[in-house]
Amino acid sequence: MTKFIVSSTIPFRWLHYFCQTDPDALALSTDNVSVFSKILDDIRINGVWKRTNPARLPKTETALVKHLDCKLKDLHVLDLGASDGSTTLDMARAFKTAGFTNVNLLLADRYLSLTKFTVGYITEYRASDGEPVLMRVGRLGIRLPKSEHDWGWLNNYIAGRYLANTTLRNAMTPVQDISLINPNIAHETTISALEFDALQRQPHLAGRLHALRASNILNLEYFSTTQLRTMVGHIFTYLKDDGLFLASRNVCEAGLEGEHGTIWRKSNGCFNQLESFGAGSEITDIVTRWESE
Ligand SMILES: C[S@@+](CC[C@H](N)C(=O)[O-])C[C@H]1O[C@@H](n2cnc3c(N)ncnc32)[C@H](O)[C@@H]1O
Repeated sequence: MTKFIVSSTIPFRWLHYFCQTDPDALALSTDNVSVFSKILDDIRINGVWKRTNPARLPKTETALVKHLDCKLKDLHVLDLGASDGSTTLDMARAFKTAGFTNVNLLLADRYLSLTKFTVGYITEYRASDGEPVLMRVGRLGIRLPKSEHDWGWLNNYIAGRYLANTTLRNAMTPVQDISLINPNIAHETTISALEFDALQRQPHLAGRLHALRASNILNLEYFSTTQLRTMVGHIFTYLKDDGLFLASRNVCEAGLEGEHGTIWRKSNGCFNQLESFGAGSEITDIVTRWESE
C-alpha cells in the first residue's frame, strides 16, 4: 500500500492504512515519551514491528520485582527487543519504586537507528545493517520488503522495480542518522543501550544477568521454532545461576491490550517455570523443554 507521509502522529487506527508518520519527525521529537513511540508505530524492519508504548508491560514489571531480590547490590537486567526503550524506562521506575538500588538496565535491540539516503527527489531509509525500510518521493511512501506486512500487487511491482535498480540505489548518499531510542532515555542514568541481533550469541554477556525480559519479540509469528530455540539457548548463557527469564506478548482483545507471559528461573541446566499471567507465554513449550547440552 502506498502511504501518504504526514508530519504529525496519526490519531485513528484505520488511518494507518493510508498514512504513515514521517520518520524524520523522530529526529525532531520532543521529550514526550509517547509521541516518539507513536511515530514508531508504523515502522517495521525485517519483518518485526518497532511498535511499543509506555505503560504496556505492567505485569512483566510486577513479576520481575516479585521474583528478584531487592537487596541485590548490583542488579543487571536486559530488556531484549526493547525498541525505543520506553518500556525499559517503565521498568527502571518500577525497580526504583520497589526499593531496588544500583540497578543497571540494558536496552537491547537489533535496530537502534535508521539512516536516511537521498538521490534527486528520492529518499530511502535503511536500517543499520542496510535493510531497506521505506522509500519515498515527496509525501508518497512505500514500505520495502520485510517492512510491509501486507503487500498489494502494485506495491510489489513498484518496490521490486525500485530495489532492482542498483545503479540508482548505489548512487544514494547518506544524509542523516536517525536514532530510534526515545530521547527521554537520555535522562535515565540506569539505562544503557546495546544494538545486537538476538540470534547471534554475545560472549561478553555470558553469566552477567540477573534477569532478561523479552516482550513482544520472541513471537511464533516472527521467528521459526529453530530460531526461537537458538535465542533461548543464548539467553540461558547470559543469565547467572538462579537468573530469571520472562517472555511475554501483548494481544489486542476488544480494543484493549492484554499481557500474556511466563517467568522462569535458570537452575540445574534448565528453565523452571515460576508463574504465568494471562494465557502464559506462547513459547512456553520451547523454553520448558530447553536443556543445556
Ligand atoms: C514489537 S517491538 C517490542 C518492543 C517492546 N519490547 C514492547 O513490548 O513494547 C519488537 C522489537 O524487537 C526488535 N527485534 C527484532 N528482531 C530482533 C532480533 N533478532 N534481535 C534483537 N531485537 C530484535 C525490533 O527491532 C523491535 O524493536
